[in-house]
Amino acid sequence: MRVLELFSGLGGWRYALGDRGRVVAAYDVSEAANATYLLNHGDLPRPQELAAVPQAALAARGADTWLLSPPCQPFCRMGNHQGLEDRRSRAFRHLMDVFREAPPDHLVLENVAGFLGSDAHALLSERIRSHGMHQLDLQACPSQFPWPNQRPRVYVVASRKPLQARPLPALAPRVVAAFLDAEEDERLYLPPEVLARHYDGLDLVAPGDCRSACFIGGYGRRYVGSGSFLRTARGVRRFSPPEVARLLGLPEGFRFPEVLTLEVRYRLLGNGLSIPVAAWALQHLA
Ligand SMILES: C[S@@+](CC[C@H](N)C(=O)[O-])C[C@H]1O[C@@H](n2cnc3c(N)ncnc32)[C@H](O)[C@@H]1O
Repeated sequence: MRVLELFSGLGGWRYALGDRGRVVAAYDVSEAANATYLLNHGDLPRPQELAAVPQAALAARGADTWLLSPPCQPFCRMGNHQGLEDRRSRAFRHLMDVFREAPPDHLVLENVAGFLGSDAHALLSERIRSHGMHQLDLQACPSQFPWPNQRPRVYVVASRKPLQARPLPALAPRVVAAFLDAEEDERLYLPPEVLARHYDGLDLVAPGDCRSACFIGGYGRRYVGSGSFLRTARGVRRFSPPEVARLLGLPEGFRFPEVLTLEVRYRLLGNGLSIPVAAWALQHLA
């Protein structure tokens, strides 16, 4: 596979792809995401607004596969549900124009559950159908694998080749303890007054549990509904960015540029992919 990684973030699709293909170009407007991508993958994504990249420029990369995670806010449970009308869908709409004229041979799109049945889903499905391609709409969560994290997502897989849904891989169940740092960062502990104020709304997990909630981009700022907090003998603390990264299935060597604040690191991770689930979705193209 020769891959265009669109809305590349920290490069989750590239990790999921492994040696099954090569990313010929990645695109993202976020400087922090691109610096992280460069540090980990050795290539700098094009810092371009995808809505403005001409069809010819995309075609010139010679890709046969698109892997994409468009912004999910227009389809989120907590978002405005404006779908294609949302300004953050402009790049997706542009890509659908490109698809109409010059479709890739294969595509995998990842998004939140609200994408299914949306106007964007209908538009993508129409494009896929109109080119006689095959389509699978998959829904999966790392917790089904079983992996100790909730991150239910939709994967739309499209290909010129017939597609068949695959069973979920049988990974061994693991406890949260296996994903924790060897040494705790004391600054992650919630001060008593903060803990008292938010305690009732916190999603608390213990190291021996086999679950954690979905970590969202606002985990560094919010307490309720943003991800799990770890209860230890010492108190209650946030999961560190490396711990969240492990729960997403990012490799142990994954790093952030030193200059990025804790809040930005959580934001990038909260936008990210579950690597084992994305890798499973990609297997459908084999
Ligand atoms: C849901 S995240 C994708 C995360 C990615 N799959 C990963 O593994 O980290 C969406 C990404 O799209 C980027 N983005 C949003 N709108 C964009 C646009 N119009 N053009 C280019 N990049 C955009 C954001 O900066 C963000 O990094």
